[in-house]
Amino acid sequence: MSELYNNEVPFELKTKSLDETLQGKALEKVRPTHVKSNGKKYYIESYGCAMNFADSEVVASILAENGYDSTKDYNEADLVFINTCSIRDKAEQTVRKRLQHFKSVKKRNKAALVGVLGCMAERLKDKFLEQEQLVDMVIGPDAYRSIPTLIAEAESGQKAINVLLSRDETYADISPVRLASNGVNAFVSITRGCDNICSFCVVPQTRGRERSRNPDSIVAEVQDLYNNGYREVTLLGQNVDSYRWSEDEKIRGKKLIDLKDTDEVFNFANLLEAVAQVASNLRVRFSTSHPKDMQDDVLYTIAKYKNICNFVHLPVQSGNSELLERMNRGYTRAYYLDRIAAINRIIPNCGLSTDIITGFCGETEAQHEETISLMKEVKFNMAYMYFYSERPGTLAAKRYADDVPEEVKKRRLSEVISIQKMNSLELNKKQVGKIVEVLIEKSSKKSEADLSGRDDQNNMVVFPRGNHKPGDYVTCEIVDCSSNVLIGKVINV
Ligand code: SAH
Ligand code: SF4
Ligand code: F3S
Repeated sequence: MSELYNNEVPFELKTKSLDETLQGKALEKVRPTHVKSNGKKYYIESYGCAMNFADSEVVASILAENGYDSTKDYNEADLVFINTCSIRDKAEQTVRKRLQHFKSVKKRNKAALVGVLGCMAERLKDKFLEQEQLVDMVIGPDAYRSIPTLIAEAESGQKAINVLLSRDETYADISPVRLASNGVNAFVSITRGCDNICSFCVVPQTRGRERSRNPDSIVAEVQDLYNNGYREVTLLGQNVDSYRWSEDEKIRGKKLIDLKDTDEVFNFANLLEAVAQVASNLRVRFSTSHPKDMQDDVLYTIAKYKNICNFVHLPVQSGNSELLERMNRGYTRAYYLDRIAAINRIIPNCGLSTDIITGFCGETEAQHEETISLMKEVKFNMAYMYFYSERPGTLAAKRYADDVPEEVKKRRLSEVISIQKMNSLELNKKQVGKIVEVLIEKSSKKSEADLSGRDDQNNMVVFPRGNHKPGDYVTCEIVDCSSNVLIGKVINV
């Protein structure tokens, strides 16, 4: 977990439930038995947020249905895919280095094709084909259904590109294959794209307009996961609070879960409730909530269902209202604090995490201090912290000078990191002596003799293996802690 505090790590991670060791790793999937092998193998690795990982599972599903087998060894692959992220310059540099590295594949196997997927493909479009001689296919996040056609084009020597963004693609009917899964936690996409224009952010450019996925298909996917032994789902969207499935769809004759005739929209609170009702021993998490859109109805739904985890990831970005306005976030410091107060009022003992950017355009020392004071006031259990990286084409790049020197951005980042470490340790110490319920996820990273899992508030708990296994729930007494993990002892209740 210490990596999460380090801005130098070459990835972006949106939730703790995705094992960070997956970042950049190959993912594997077996072809369904009803599909005949076409004799070709693909290799896929992913960077970026959980949505990208969820998308790679959609891509794997499309490839498997078309007869491709997967491999974990890119040296034996006919197709090499890299699912990319553009959120910060560092993320793009990692991908560029990786593409250079894949040159060896082409040297060994001249027929091998390399495809760039995801946000960087969308941002750079045909520039990839012009500049990077080793890229054969460029495929944006809404164009994955066209992958088989694009492969055929690339095989016939054409440069294959599809970066069209869609207003309605949600891949709702594609059942994602679970790649490199522990069989316990799974991500389920509920929206795609983003309609906000936070001035620092490249996502609206790379992912297009926001659209919600049909709730029936979401609940069906969750039910299927549960039937296959999964015990936790994380509902994913850039802004889950803006999830809405409207009357228009109903008029088009689609079946909608629990949508009453008088209701105009099926919103995120309704969706959470429908997912929570799939099974009482299936944990439900979600990411990301947006402070300007998170309403109390969602909080009451979390409080009502024991299996909806008491944990909210609520990115603040900055503790200064002027900066928040320049970031176009749509809330002030006071409004954000009001939302935190609502969480604490409606969901006692709720775990909290956030995202913070240091050194955004024009940030003064006094404004940075306001971020520190907000952190001290709220006391987040966890935070993802970054220094500002200007992204071409964003509102901030057009309007404001990126005028905070890099060493100042980094110094401010190290200050927020040390405050966060202090807060995490203080909050973890308060857990010592408490009894918590843990959903076991995997072996502990440090020792095979230990297992790890999370409690309701998203705290990582490590405890002796005993006869337990991933997917089981155990009751633990917390006996010790560090700033990033709780040490537990299984007790019989
Ligand atoms: N949809 C989510 C965030 C997605 S991006 C939300 O609205 O909160 C994840 C995080 O990356 C952001 O919360 C922000 O803290 C960080 N980030 C985004 N653009 C950035 C940039 N240009 N420089 C540094 N950090 C950035
Ligand atoms: Fe980016 Fe803002 Fe959308 Fe999050 S809400 S993805 S930060 S534009
Ligand atoms: Fe990166 Fe795209 Fe996600 S830019 S953070 S992979 S939406």
